[in-house]
Amino acid sequence: MRMLTLFPFADRPRRSRAPVITGCFALATVIFIGGTGSASGQDHVGQYEQADIEFGAQLYGANCTRCHGDAGDEVDGVDLRTGQYSRADSDPELMRLIRTGIRDTAMPPNDFSRSELTGIVSFLRTMRDFDLSAVTLGDQVRGQSLFAGKGDCASCHRVKGQGPRVAPDLTGIGSVRTAANLQQSLLDPTGSMLAVNRPVRAVLGDGTVLNGRRLNEDTYTIQIIDQDERLRSLEKAELRELAALTESPMPPATDTLDEQEMADVLAYLLTLKGLE
Ligand code: HEC
Ligand code: HEC
Repeated sequence: MRMLTLFPFADRPRRSRAPVITGCFALATVIFIGGTGSASGQDHVGQYEQADIEFGAQLYGANCTRCHGDAGDEVDGVDLRTGQYSRADSDPELMRLIRTGIRDTAMPPNDFSRSELTGIVSFLRTMRDFDLSAVTLGDQVRGQSLFAGKGDCASCHRVKGQGPRVAPDLTGIGSVRTAANLQQSLLDPTGSMLAVNRPVRAVLGDGTVLNGRRLNEDTYTIQIIDQDERLRSLEKAELRELAALTESPMPPATDTLDEQEMADVLAYLLTLKGLE
């Protein structure tokens, strides 16, 4: 039996800082969609991220054990632990099956987000290798109070209309990033920063320096939220300098939280699926 270790990379050396990039943001715009696991049926634990497996284990416990059992073998003719399914071969097929259920059988449809589907599939594909009872899962209720308190996350991030706008709004983050993506963001904000989230530094014609977050951009203008949370629309031609920084202003969560606390915050982030 392998044990799941939360945050196995917690004390891995940080990546070296990349130099500041000056110039055109348009090129840097990358839309990121959470990972979907790998493309076809396979049986290597290493291909699935631990954070996703763990999130999936939690979802499995809440949604599937009542029929399939902890060991996955309580439905006649179905043994989920094998990692091979007669009705689904690839991971995308398996996700579809879990989302739609199986018509004319007791297997119900499930209204899961992509991150949740990634979690469930990562767990199913690897479940024979894990002892569910040995998995330490995060606690979302504790995570929510750590987010506002000890973790200091709420001093930069906004959730459901509460909090500042200087950092990305996390209201829907649990449905657009997988558990593994979020874990990386917590451990290594700079190394996992998305191009679209790079902080902006703009120097106006009169020398005023603005540091902020980019909201929108076209060829001639850029809209940012500055350090005082003011919305600014800037004409690029009138700027002395415009740069996207490659170092995240966010401190790694290891600065404020221990392993269990990070798992709790992660569990909380995964519940943020937008405004109901
Ligand atoms: C209400 C009972 C019930 C629940 C809850 C349930 N299942 Fe099922 N599931 C079934 C039944 C019954 C079948 C077999 C359907 C058939 O093929 O006759 C099945 C089949 C499956 C299969 C196909 C197996 C194969 O070999 O093709 C997968 C995968 C599966 N379930 C996963 C899940 C997951 C993941 C969850 C939780 C999100 C879940 N099920 C929740 C009853 C349930
Ligand atoms: C000093 C301000 C600051 C603090 C404190 C902070 N963050 Fe951040 N965070 C940012 C900024 C700015 C970004 C965007 C740049 C980046 O991705 O690193 C960000 C990015 C993120 C992302 C990635 C967003 C995405 O779109 O994928 C997550 C998740 C996140 N923060 C969660 C947290 C959590 C949880 C905490 C508390 C443990 C926290 N942050 C503390 C400023 C902060």
